Amino acid sequence: MQAQEIHFLVQAGGHLMGNLRVPGDKSISHRSIMLGSLARGTTHIKGFLQGEDSLATLQAFKAMGVHIQGPNTSGEVIIEGVGMYALKAAEQPLDLGNSGTSIRLLSGLLAGQGISLTLTGDSSLSSRPMKRVTVPLAAMGAKLVTTTAGTAPIDIHPVKELTAINYTLPVASAQVKSAILLAGLYAKGETCVIEPAPTRDHTERMLQSFGYSVKVQGNRICLQGGGTLTACDIEVPADISSAAFFMVAASIAPNSDITLEHVGINPTRIGVINILQQMGADISLYNQREVGKEPVADIRVRSSQLKGIAIPEDQVPLAIDEFPVLFIAAACAEGETVLTGAEELRVKESDRIQAMADGMKVLGMEAEATPDGIKIQGGIPFHGGEVDSLGDHRIAMAFVVAGLRASSAISIKNCANVNTSFPDFVSLAQASGLQVKVA
Ligand code: S3P
Repeated sequence: MQAQEIHFLVQAGGHLMGNLRVPGDKSISHRSIMLGSLARGTTHIKGFLQGEDSLATLQAFKAMGVHIQGPNTSGEVIIEGVGMYALKAAEQPLDLGNSGTSIRLLSGLLAGQGISLTLTGDSSLSSRPMKRVTVPLAAMGAKLVTTTAGTAPIDIHPVKELTAINYTLPVASAQVKSAILLAGLYAKGETCVIEPAPTRDHTERMLQSFGYSVKVQGNRICLQGGGTLTACDIEVPADISSAAFFMVAASIAPNSDITLEHVGINPTRIGVINILQQMGADISLYNQREVGKEPVADIRVRSSQLKGIAIPEDQVPLAIDEFPVLFIAAACAEGETVLTGAEELRVKESDRIQAMADGMKVLGMEAEATPDGIKIQGGIPFHGGEVDSLGDHRIAMAFVVAGLRASSAISIKNCANVNTSFPDFVSLAQASGLQVKVA
């Protein structure tokens, strides 16, 4: 990864028009490789995200002996599943780059495989908290060793068997929930996870697509260990987290009218739509349909005058990856926007509260970081300048969107990691009306 080398330059102004399809959902792409590899039979995937994060998961399974073809240029991947217990110890540590989903879900999935492995990542991933997965996995009998700071590398040691647990998540995290459920596939008995608030449920849905029974009763998700997965076909919808940049862009840039095609609108992911609509955005959903077990729609967004709001805390886990760009929406809205209950943003690919507050101040916006959120005074005209994305893809793309309303150009440093989630961002952004280029 060359996080130091790519910078973006955004000219001020512009508006968005037309139809666009953003790349495949990152969370679903990861899970399709994981479950396809453990299944019996051949899994065909369409719309796979060819970003560095999901490709890191794909490479990890190849390194563990799974035969995977693709992705070809249209995102088709074919996996010859090896079954539940046939992954091989890789010769080298598995390098998962920038990807929190890969390292946390693999910790659970590999805990009961009976093989020795090491999981590593880049400097951002190596500073993120891993105890949130290793502690509950240890309670199941897994032997996972982190650094004393509770960070990667994670050494996985073979154990004879895992035992099911009932685990109440201390934080609302789909990555932790998924790690425990994936370990639960290998555990004796019924594993249950209790969530403090709903989080993305792609693991539960996809397990069912692969024929594995998952019981969901309110906030309690349970599965019985010892079953098998049967290969299936997966169509990955466009990623709502990538679509979010264009939803905000079209909302804040006058004379905009765009339609985002085939976007995943799983109810556990639509916080960004709910929040923007509450701020007064003009967003309509068309052609709602099911693809596999995931709902999708075409989303039309037209310019509107947004207003500041107190963001309801129950929306936080449902919009957890969309806050950087929502902060830009708030800066363009009339009045104050207040976010609370979002301390998790401090342990993402960067400390997203601080990184955004710092960059917003450089541009003359009024943003005050708080321990668990931010206060933004919107409606104040802002200018250009040089901001640092700190190698965080979503910070970089959020500041590109800010260019639409800035009075002069914005230069954004350290943008290489946009490739982790959105490889064609610059060309798609240009095609829709954003005046961005690689500097
Ligand atoms: C993800 C869950 C979220 C999200 C991440 C992807 C997933 O993390 O921020 O980008 O695919 O399960 P947490 O569950 O830790 O909040």
